[in-house]
Amino acid sequence: MALNKMKDSKYDGTERMSVDYVQGILQPTPTCDTWDQIWNFQAKADDLLIATYPKAGTTWTQEIVDLIQNEGDIEKSQRAPTHVRIPFIEWVVPSIGSGLEQANEMPSPRTLKTHLPIHLLPPSFLEKNCKIIYVARNPKDNMVSYYHFHRMNKALPDPGTWEEYFEKFLNGKVCWGSWYDHVKGWWKAKDQHNILYLFYEDMKKNPKHEIKKLTEFIGKNLDDKVLDKIVHHTSFDVMKQNPMANYSTIPTEIMNHSISPFMRKGEIGDWKNHFTVAQNEKFDEDYKKNMADTSLTFCFQF
Ligand code: A3P
Repeated sequence: MALNKMKDSKYDGTERMSVDYVQGILQPTPTCDTWDQIWNFQAKADDLLIATYPKAGTTWTQEIVDLIQNEGDIEKSQRAPTHVRIPFIEWVVPSIGSGLEQANEMPSPRTLKTHLPIHLLPPSFLEKNCKIIYVARNPKDNMVSYYHFHRMNKALPDPGTWEEYFEKFLNGKVCWGSWYDHVKGWWKAKDQHNILYLFYEDMKKNPKHEIKKLTEFIGKNLDDKVLDKIVHHTSFDVMKQNPMANYSTIPTEIMNHSISPFMRKGEIGDWKNHFTVAQNEKFDEDYKKNMADTSLTFCFQF
């Protein structure tokens, strides 16, 4: 695996990000290079963490949480782009910055983001009993979304063809590792820790209901009008037009929205436009095997 180009270079998106391993999990090289600092990150008891497998609805959840914390004040939630308001702790893009540094400089109470599987989560989050929101998405749509995100985002490796990517995803050979291990690991942890486990599909089907759950978990009491306002401002169409929530502030050399926009489709069931019949059969068989040891279930269509 190509170790290193990034180490000493200023990463400007002219080349694809290289990757390496942290305890068997693929990660962008700058994350591997700073792993000790990430692992030793000191969470504080009043930190709120949003944890997801990549492309499970992280940005959507971040926007909802920020609006809940600001009691529906749209102007306040437009103070900065998502990744500045809510640092992504293990993310290092040399030309943009380090999520860890941002988090360390941020005054409390902080809201933070991670894609780490539970066994790689810096231990201080659980030691301090921080509130954690985990969002999971059905793996077929999650895979499709992740594939298109690789295409447009030079800070991730080239995905190859859809057929090649399909195999990589199934084998967990993608950044942040196996989808199965991720969703199952966090699912198992939710009963012992302060974790609210949500699903992208529930958020799509009944956003107000899920936003209410989030409001209660965060410890706010918002009236119905404010909840409706949050539902509206975090709808796919409104967020797609919001430069503080659609990643359009990241330089085009890194994220090229003309290849595939960050706010791409936001639907349940787009996998049907990508999976061949043979891929679907293969996937279902693999899914059955891998999900045999968990009570966790997913919804694959609206
Ligand atoms: P698609 O690629 O399927 O459209 P993440 O924030 O974890 O990277 O996830 C991105 C995925 O969430 C993308 O999925 C994106 O379109 C979708 N998404 C973002 N905001 C959304 C919203 N308000 N409603 C529904 N889906 C949303």
